[in-house]
Amino acid sequence: MPFSLEVFDDPRELDRAAARWLAARVRPGAVLGLATGNTPMGMYRELVAMHRRGELSLAGVRTFNLDEYVGLGADDPRSYAAYMLEHLFRWVDIAPGQWHIPDGLNPDPEEEASRYDRLYWELGPCDVQVLGIGRNGHIGFNEPGTPFDQGTHVVELAWETRLANAEAFGSPEAVPERAITLGIRNILAAREILLLAKGASKAEAVRRALEEEPSPDLPASALQLHPRVTVYLDREAARAISRP
Ligand code: F6R
Repeated sequence: MPFSLEVFDDPRELDRAAARWLAARVRPGAVLGLATGNTPMGMYRELVAMHRRGELSLAGVRTFNLDEYVGLGADDPRSYAAYMLEHLFRWVDIAPGQWHIPDGLNPDPEEEASRYDRLYWELGPCDVQVLGIGRNGHIGFNEPGTPFDQGTHVVELAWETRLANAEAFGSPEAVPERAITLGIRNILAAREILLLAKGASKAEAVRRALEEEPSPDLPASALQLHPRVTVYLDREAARAISRP
């Protein structure tokens, strides 16, 4: 298996290790690829704590987020722009204008996806890409069936993704139907990748991603094609893999 894999008994220890992994790669001019969702919240909390202790400055970095819902902007607390402000950017010294996320309010989402893709290749690719994984094996919002060579695009979210993300919206029907996401092509272009997964609901997707033949049916299996992937799992997310 080409991955460097670590399994943590204590999810807080996973958060700290993920924060240390990312902080060790921060240097002036670094381009960091970031994820949202429940999984990396603890990592962001640890990064903010490191910043407060004077151990980390993000002053010289640029960031690219993976994805945003079509129709939501930073003023909407359910947007990923709002998530990033709340969990990281407002607490650290990243320079204004140095963080990037697709604009969910662009009335032409296809045009926004093209703009974001151009920007990604102008300023990037990313030095590092942090990823979570969906129960259906998505990375970013690249749902099952996405070709591995696709760039940034507008995606029709899978029903199971809308179900998984329903809490913030009150019901799965209220979750936006579409999102803009970096493609697997962008993700694989990062120099290094950190994949994080917590909880039993991710165990099967993790097993297939790490142990089955790479296939667009399970988008995270594309990571097997990348030479430098680190995987941090909690005990529950690791329970289906053959090498715990
Ligand atoms: C988030 C993203 C998604 C999530 C995945 C897991 O920017 O791109 O792929 O990483 O849906 O979400 P959580 O961590 O909420 O289980």
